[in-house]
This record gives sequence, C-alpha cells and structure tokens, in this order.
Amino acid sequence: MSKPSSQIHRAWWKESSVYQIWPASFKDSNDDGIGDIPGIISKLDHIKNLGIDIVWLCPSYKSPQVDMGYDIADYYNIADEYGTVADVEKLIKGCHERGMKLLMDLVVNHTSDQHEWFKQSRSSKDNEYRNWYVWKPAKYDENGNRQPPNNWVSHFQGSVWEWDEHTGEYYLHLYATEQPDLNWEHPPVRKAVHDIMRFWLDKGASGFRMDVINFISKDQRFPDAPIKDPRTPWQWGDKYYANGPRLHEYLQDLGKILKEYDTFSVGEMPFVKDTQEVLRAVQYDRNEINMIFNFEHVDIDHGTYDKFEPGSWKLTDLKAFFETWQKFMYENDGWNALYWENHDQPRSVDRYTNAKEEDRVIASKMLATILALKAGSPFVYQGQEIGMANVPKEWDIEEYKDIDCLNHWIRLQKYRPTDTEAHKSAREEYQKKSRDNGRTPVQWSSAPNGGFTGPNVKPWMSVNPNYAQGINAETQVNDPKSTYNYWASVLRLRKQYLDIFVYGNYEMVDRDSQEVFAYTRQYEDQKALVVANWTDHELEWEPAAKGVKGIKEVIMDTYESVDDAKQRFSQDKWSLRPYEAAVFLIEP
Ligand code: GLC
Ligand code: CA
Repeated sequence: MSKPSSQIHRAWWKESSVYQIWPASFKDSNDDGIGDIPGIISKLDHIKNLGIDIVWLCPSYKSPQVDMGYDIADYYNIADEYGTVADVEKLIKGCHERGMKLLMDLVVNHTSDQHEWFKQSRSSKDNEYRNWYVWKPAKYDENGNRQPPNNWVSHFQGSVWEWDEHTGEYYLHLYATEQPDLNWEHPPVRKAVHDIMRFWLDKGASGFRMDVINFISKDQRFPDAPIKDPRTPWQWGDKYYANGPRLHEYLQDLGKILKEYDTFSVGEMPFVKDTQEVLRAVQYDRNEINMIFNFEHVDIDHGTYDKFEPGSWKLTDLKAFFETWQKFMYENDGWNALYWENHDQPRSVDRYTNAKEEDRVIASKMLATILALKAGSPFVYQGQEIGMANVPKEWDIEEYKDIDCLNHWIRLQKYRPTDTEAHKSAREEYQKKSRDNGRTPVQWSSAPNGGFTGPNVKPWMSVNPNYAQGINAETQVNDPKSTYNYWASVLRLRKQYLDIFVYGNYEMVDRDSQEVFAYTRQYEDQKALVVANWTDHELEWEPAAKGVKGIKEVIMDTYESVDDAKQRFSQDKWSLRPYEAAVFLIEP
C-alpha cells in the first residue's frame, strides 16, 4: 500500500544523490603518482554533470596510511600527499559554487597508533590519556602462558588484542594493530569527537559518513565469542560490539550536533540484520542519523567462515534483502542508503552480473537503473559511473596493496604453507573480492596511465589497462550511449519523477524469478514499473501475467530511446534483451 502524502516526511537529504571519492586514486594533480585534493577540485564538473548533489570525501587527514587513511593521526590536518586544510576549504567552495555539498568521513571507532592520544596512552598506566583506549591485563592458561583477554578475531586477521611490553597490558584493535579502538565509555573521548565534528561543520562541510559507527559501544565484560570457525582460536565477537549497549545514547549526542547544522549523515553498520535495531538509529523522529549502509547485499558472495572463500548466491537472495529494507523503511518512517560499490567492495558489473565483454556497458546501465530508482539516497562510487572493472586476472599479488587482502595472504602462507589448492583458490577470490578492485586509479582518458597521473609517472597503484578500451571518462562523456551519460539520465529521471522515485512505496513484481528483477513504486496515484532482465540472453516477459496492468508509457530504456522502444513495449508480451532494463509509467 502507498501512504497518503500527509504521512510522508520530505527532506533535502532524501532527495540527494552522493558521489564518493577515495582520494589516493581519484586524480593526481602534481605527478607524484598519488591522487590529491587539487585533483578533485579539477574534476568537480565531471561530478556535477552527472547530476550529483553531494560529494563524500573519504579520509584525507594526516595518517601513516596503514589502512589508507582509516588510521587517523590528526583529525585537524590533511595528509601532505593530499594537500592542506586550505585545499579542503577550496574544495568546499568549489562544491558550493556548483550547488553541491561536501561530506567528510568521520572515523572515530579507532585512531592511528601514531595519534598523539595513543602515544600518551601507551606511555604509562597513569597517563591522563590511558583511559582513552581499551587496555586490559593478560589472561594466563593452565600452563602459565600469557593469553589475550578474549578470543575475538580482528577484521584484518589474528587477535584483536595487541600486547604492549612497555606497560604490560593488551590494547584492543578491531582492525589493524596500528588502529587502536577508542574507549567511548570515557566522557573526554566523546567530547573530543564532538569537537572534531564541529570543526569540520564550521568549515562548511555538510555532514559525515561515519565509519563503523555501530562498533563504538562494546560490552564491557568483553566476553569470549562463541566458536563458529573450529579451525582457529579467533572468533567473530560482533555480538558484543556491533550495536552494543550504549550505541544509541552515543548516537543521540552526535545527532544533536548533526541536527543543529542540518546535515546529511550516513553511518556504516556492518553485521546488523535486525531492522528494528537499525530503525532506532534512522527513524525520522529519533534524530540520530539519517541512514546507514547495511551489508547483506555485499556479503552475498562470501564463504561460510571467510570472505576470501568461495560463496554463491541467487538473484532471489539479492531481491529479498532489498525488499526487506525497502518495505520496512517505507512503512516505519526510516530511510535507506543505496549502494553497489565503495572503496571496500569489488566492481559491481563483475560481482553482480556474468556479463560478457560485449555486454558490460549494458549491464552497468541495468545496475544503475535498479539501484537509483529504489527508495533511498543513491551513492555512486568513483569509476562506477564509467563502469570500471575489477583488476585483471593476470595481475600478480605484487599489484595488490590492501592490508585486508595482504594480511590474509601472509597468514595463509604462514599457517598452510604447502596447501597449494588453498593458495590458488584464495588468489582467485582476491581477484573477485579484494578491496583493491575498487581502488585502482580512476580512468580519465585514453592517455598513458588513463590520464590519472603523468605519462612517465609510476602511480602508487597500477591503472587497469582497459582504460584504452573505452573505459575512461573522456570517451564516455562524449558518447551519448555511454555508462556515464546513462547514469546522468537515470539520476535526472529520479528527480523528474521525484514523488514516485524518492517518496513512493516499493512492491516487488515477479518475486520468485531468478531472471528478472522488477518492482513498482507508487506515490498517491502516480506509479512506475522498473524491469530488468538479469541474464545474458533474450527473455519473454508478460507484465499482465505478473500482475502488472495498465502500462501507460515507457520512460527509460537501456538499449534505445523511448521513441524507438515504444513499439516493442506496446505488445502484451515483451522480449527483454540481455541485461536490459526499462522503466514505465503505469496505472495506479
Ligand atoms: C570501514 C572502512 C574501511 C576501513 C575500516 C576500518 O569499514 O570503510 O575501509 O578499513 O572501516 O576503519
Ligand atoms: Ca599528487
């Protein structure tokens, strides 16, 4: 059912679409092989012309870059390789001049071990910063051997506890050893976070993407996690730190500041599947955060114990995740963030379709259609708008740079040195799922290095050689049939029929099909149908047989203009081409 418009809360942030920038690989302005903020400023028109309202800048603060900036050493300064605070101010101005806003990345579950707070904290047990992090004494087993306080596994392999010889205690790090977790129980930590937020909001930022924000409150008993993977002592402790006991208390505090500045906010929330729990964070009147990134659809191809083990999925799984969140948020006055890609995920055409080389462009348009016309704020990750691909299969492990992937590889070789089968399988999975896939430099043109950096420069990470085959911005901006121009037209369509596509309901059509992804959106008496053929072959599809009646008009098609498509869609049975998507106005 669709709601009366009087029950719908309108908001600018619901109507906005976001473009995510991962600075190291966006655009290098000074030929040192690393992307930078002046490079971003030089490409703002590329983003604006896509129809984007908000630019989200991934962490660009001072950092030893152990985890590419998600290890922050100083929240008030910018990494030298990226520029200066003055450059960020220019970036904000450049966004505003084009009617766009800028989001900063707020990474406050942990800092770098090079942050001054941590240096103080580890210097002695009675230092005033000791309590800013989570320190625990050792446990001892029956043989008197020192053991970490519990069995939690780190997101980047091994125990979450690191022994600190100097003061004789362990500290907690859910991520890398160099990323100690802040102790949010300690009020000065919370105050420090509030100050950081105000600093960037006062500079003109319009809000934040909030890194693993649902991990900030931990069960203070730090209990052992249940054993799920019998092959290792280290187990997932998420049940004790994801959406922990005091999360909403902390989010209420952050929410007050976010509201005061009328911001856009999106929280990253791994692990959580409970819709009611997410609602406590995003429901309109709760005033915590606007929306979250959930993970069900991106964890879809993970193995049972491990992301880098093979996993398989069906189209009905994907449709079911979306249906749950779409309907639930509509019915309960919450909101969704919509994404296929980001800097932690592989490229969507490779992950979600089996498109052959010749179908890549059409498949990328299908993914754009299905994503952007759902209820929520769409996020486009750099390079997604030109259909960038995963790293080439023939790339050697030396080309991979990401700590998540490399720690996995190092551990595999250490603990299973002769298991060549496991090595081979892991290598195949890295090529499919490593975060490196989303981190190769953006391909700007057909010039050497894809125009990311100078022709004779060795970029910090190699450019995917397919920039020479049309996967580059310059070629695509000038080609009306490109992925780039299609994305622009979908985002335009979303705004043109704003009531339907932003504020309408969501109903699945042909739910059990493993070949078709279809849904309707309705706002009062205006209604649209979105249909996609998720296969690489032609497919017959009869809307009436699936309960869809009263097709009025085709308003978008991925293969041809709506005028050309008209004839084909005036029949009772439609023949949908490989990976075709089409959008219609229909009778309510
Ligand atoms: C988030 C980031 C990821 C980072 C991790 C630790 O998941 O998106 O890139 O490694 O948090 O900060
Ligand atoms: Ca540079």
